[in-house]
Amino acid sequence: MTIMRPLVALAIWAPSLITAQVCTPGNGSSTYNITSTRQALDLFSDCTTIVADQISIDDWDNGTFSLGGITNISGTLIYNYEGNVEALEMPDLRYLGGLVSTTSTGIASILFSQLLTVTGRVDIREPGVETQVSFPKLWNAGAVGITGPVSLFNLSALQTVAGDLILEDMPAVALPQLQTAGYIRISGMPSYITMPLLTSAARGSDVEALPSSSGMEINQENSGIDLEFPALASVDRLLYIQGTVISLNLPSLEYVSGTLHIDTSAPLSFDLPLASAASIELEGDITRASFPSLDTNNTSLRLDALPCAALGTGLDESDYYDTRCGQQHISTGGKIAAGVVVPLGVLGIIMAIIVWYKKRMRRGEKASGRVVDVEMVDLPAGGSGGEAGAAGERERDRDIERGRIPVTQPGMMARERSPTPPPPYEPRQE
Ligand SMILES: *[C@@H]1O[C@H](CO)[C@@H](O)[C@H](O)[C@H]1NC(C)=O
Ligand SMILES: *[C@@H]1O[C@H](CO)[C@@H](O)[C@H](O)[C@H]1NC(C)=O
Ligand SMILES: *[C@@H]1O[C@H](CO)[C@@H](O)[C@H](O)[C@H]1NC(C)=O
Ligand SMILES: *[C@@H]1O[C@H](CO)[C@@H](O)[C@H](O)[C@H]1NC(C)=O
Ligand SMILES: *[C@@H]1O[C@H](CO)[C@@H](O)[C@H](O)[C@H]1NC(C)=O
Ligand SMILES: *[C@@H]1O[C@H](CO)[C@@H](O)[C@H](O)[C@H]1NC(C)=O
Ligand SMILES: *[C@@H]1O[C@H](CO)[C@@H](O)[C@H](O)[C@H]1NC(C)=O
Repeated sequence: MTIMRPLVALAIWAPSLITAQVCTPGNGSSTYNITSTRQALDLFSDCTTIVADQISIDDWDNGTFSLGGITNISGTLIYNYEGNVEALEMPDLRYLGGLVSTTSTGIASILFSQLLTVTGRVDIREPGVETQVSFPKLWNAGAVGITGPVSLFNLSALQTVAGDLILEDMPAVALPQLQTAGYIRISGMPSYITMPLLTSAARGSDVEALPSSSGMEINQENSGIDLEFPALASVDRLLYIQGTVISLNLPSLEYVSGTLHIDTSAPLSFDLPLASAASIELEGDITRASFPSLDTNNTSLRLDALPCAALGTGLDESDYYDTRCGQQHISTGGKIAAGVVVPLGVLGIIMAIIVWYKKRMRRGEKASGRVVDVEMVDLPAGGSGGEAGAAGERERDRDIERGRIPVTQPGMMARERSPTPPPPYEPRQE
């Protein structure tokens, strides 16, 4: 920093820097090999733009490595440092081709405070447990990978990542502006994951040059996590969720072009509006899984690790369910049948009482001595009261013997009527 200040002052003052200054390696080479901060300052102090495939920085003096005044770098910065570096800073850089950073000793801060876009890949490996990684204005990147523990990372403006977005061992994952990414992988023990605006995880056709998968994978270990992606509507190829997931809320998710895989070690119940997926694999401690909108005709289901009772709405209408859980299916059918038949029986009884009441009124009008009146009354189907049914059967047999009833139909009961009618039939209390 002490070296930098006079240089920056000079840069502001120097008339040669009012216009853009493009620097290239020369000698027909496309790379810069930097071995010290001094060398970097000598080479780049006049530059606003560096055009090179690669700027490889292998070593430098202790302290902060900071190159001011440079706004554009077309190629990839490669930091591979061993020294006692406090910070890496590119305070004026706005456009960058790519960044690869590896370290074996740790660094306190990686700060690209003005960086807006990275056409290629940002790849920061093992920065150190104490490291703060900040790209607070970066909104568009070809790919982003931060692997290894850090104390903090700031990607709070990031909106689109065409290829991979890989975050491993982050203390927490907050991507408040992220809308799309080709492939998202988050692993480790983040205390929370928030991506309120994420709508799709699908690799674009414009990332052929980048090594990229497609879809989204979350591997969360040990501590429990609530997962909510309120805007996520479609995922290409794979949506893989594994970990101690306490709650799962994907209220907008409609399409997974490939496999939806959920494996939780915490008891989890969820209800997803998914309309289509090539396959669904559920494992672990899932207590209830419902897909009310799913067309299971075209979805291959792998749910063998789950009890049938955990297969909720949608899944329980599948062929898979019929094949594997058929017994339970019938018993549910039985319950439904009972639920329909019992009210029907009660309705029948009410009808019978109404009919009986009307006939009684008519008889009252005639009032002509003893009339034997035979009336057909519907019995509750299925005979909910066995004894009453048997009693009715015996009574009917008696009546037939006496020749009072020439014909009766199954399920009907003949009842003798006298001028003073018997009390109305009362349903058995069950
Ligand atoms: C260019 O090549 C010459 C001769 O091969 C060499 O002395 C010089 O250091 C090279 N310049 C750079 C920037 O590598
Ligand atoms: C930088 O180093 C690489 C290999 O490490 C070499 O191929 C390349 O020519 C070097 N570039 C310059 C400008 O010395
Ligand atoms: C960097 O600092 C360490 C101790 O902090 C010292 O031993 C080493 O010599 C320094 N290296 C340079 C190039 O100044
Ligand atoms: C830097 O790059 C951006 C995007 O590629 C471009 O619009 C801008 O003109 C460049 N600036 C300079 C000084 O080269
Ligand atoms: C990230 O940086 C921006 C700008 O400096 C700041 O407003 C924001 O609070 C930071 N976010 C985190 C999580 O540190
Ligand atoms: C699924 O299959 C059933 C029976 O084969 C059929 O009635 C239904 O229309 C199918 N659903 C769709 C969305 O194709
Ligand atoms: C079902 O899957 C087949 C083959 O994967 C596909 O061709 C067909 O369009 C799908 N049908 C529906 C209704 O999604």
